[in-house]
Amino acid sequence: MSARHSKILIVDDDPDIREVMRDRLKAMSFEVVEASDGEQALARLRDESPTITLLDLMMPKKSGLEVLKAIRDEGLDTTIIVMTAYGTIEKAVEAMQAGAYDFLTKPFSPGHLEVVIGKALEREALKRENLLLSGEVKGRDQAIVGHSPPILHAIEVIRKAAASGSTILLLGETGTGKEVFAKAIHHWSPRRDKPFVVVNCVALSEELLESELFGHERGAFTGAHQRKPGKLELADGGTAFLDEIGDLKPRLQAKLLRVLQEHEFERVGGTKPIRVDLRFVAATNRRLDRAIREGLFREDLYYRLNVVSVSLPPLRERPEDIVPLTNHFLAQYCGRLGKRIKEITPDAWELLQHYHWPGNVRELANFIERAVVLSTYDRITSEDLPLSVLSSSADLPTADVPRGFHEAIVAYKRQIIREALHRSGGNQSKAAGALGLQRTYLSRLMKELQVGEKS
Ligand SMILES: Nc1ncnc2c1ncn2[C@@H]1O[C@H](COP(=O)(O)OP(=O)(O)OP(=O)(O)O)[C@@H](O)[C@H]1O
Ligand SMILES: [Mg+2]
Repeated sequence: MSARHSKILIVDDDPDIREVMRDRLKAMSFEVVEASDGEQALARLRDESPTITLLDLMMPKKSGLEVLKAIRDEGLDTTIIVMTAYGTIEKAVEAMQAGAYDFLTKPFSPGHLEVVIGKALEREALKRENLLLSGEVKGRDQAIVGHSPPILHAIEVIRKAAASGSTILLLGETGTGKEVFAKAIHHWSPRRDKPFVVVNCVALSEELLESELFGHERGAFTGAHQRKPGKLELADGGTAFLDEIGDLKPRLQAKLLRVLQEHEFERVGGTKPIRVDLRFVAATNRRLDRAIREGLFREDLYYRLNVVSVSLPPLRERPEDIVPLTNHFLAQYCGRLGKRIKEITPDAWELLQHYHWPGNVRELANFIERAVVLSTYDRITSEDLPLSVLSSSADLPTADVPRGFHEAIVAYKRQIIREALHRSGGNQSKAAGALGLQRTYLSRLMKELQVGEKS
């Protein structure tokens, strides 16, 4: 979906703000329409059907929230971005609950405006694509959702680096979006029409991984009946995403280093060098500096990979992203599951915002999917959320609940066990395995700490 065919409605009672935004958006090739109050906004919405509406919340006649409500009641189809004054984040949250897709805090920079509009357009494109396919969302067009300062910064870095072709190293805990970013890099690079291949370096065996990466010649090993090209060969001209690079074994590290330095390699069992033109993106949730010190990772390879590095912060360090991500997943799963959710109740929002998200964005996505599945009416309440969110929020030793050391430790142990049980779907053996405990010891702990099987 391009700017050229998109119409944007600016709703603000301040003519100066409208003017600045109008100029900016026109420069981005949008068609712009304006309204100075809520009544006018609704009239424009009905007559002009803008793709995106930038809606001020504080206005005479009808407030932004009232406009939102009317949009919903009349079923008007537009992606709404609300604009709020700095420090009135609750208003923005309220607006998102009422159906807004995203928000901008005033004053905002042109760059920020562009990012938010870009995301809204991508969402529109997805909506359209979904209508056409009425099926899976296509991974390649996946938007990066979030507008916390660290995410905006990371987006800016990869946008710039994407064009250059330099190698990019993505760092971050599990579920923070490394693969999403890797795809975005490919998508924003001149290689976008060439292949994007993912190689997971945590392999069943070193030999299999080697053949997957580099391919093999006929007869290279038992069972190699045919010559087979590797993923690096198949990705020629495109982007190779080396996931979990920290797990790559030393021999393959050496072979990969050569590809990075000389752009060539041989198939397993082969002697003819194969030349490739590749952009590499690597990711890991490990501390590579530590791995280097321990002699597990080659320093020279590290420097080759770490030309541009981007750290994706854990979700708990960017709580601003919880609302837009939640809305994004809500729309996604409602579409996929054919459900309609009008509202997330304030108590549920409260829990989502205070949970510490050890599994990061992936965990949030799973929670929302589950909540959409479980919700009986057209709203999500705290009861539709998994117990680990509930219990951890209640149990997290907080500063305002005075607790002794031992009490806090007990609460913490309970929390860890509950989370492991939640993740294992209540399966005690799996939970014990994940915690590195004997199953019998786990059940003893559960009794001792009074953790019920269902709690
Ligand atoms: N900023 C984001 N916007 C939209 N979706 C996101 C974002 N970040 C993560 N996700 C979603 O969260 C899930 C996990 O993301 P991803 O697979 O990219 O994480 P990862 O960092 O590669 O995790 P791992 O280290 O476990 O492989 C995916 O479903 C992805 O679509
Ligand atoms: Mg990943």
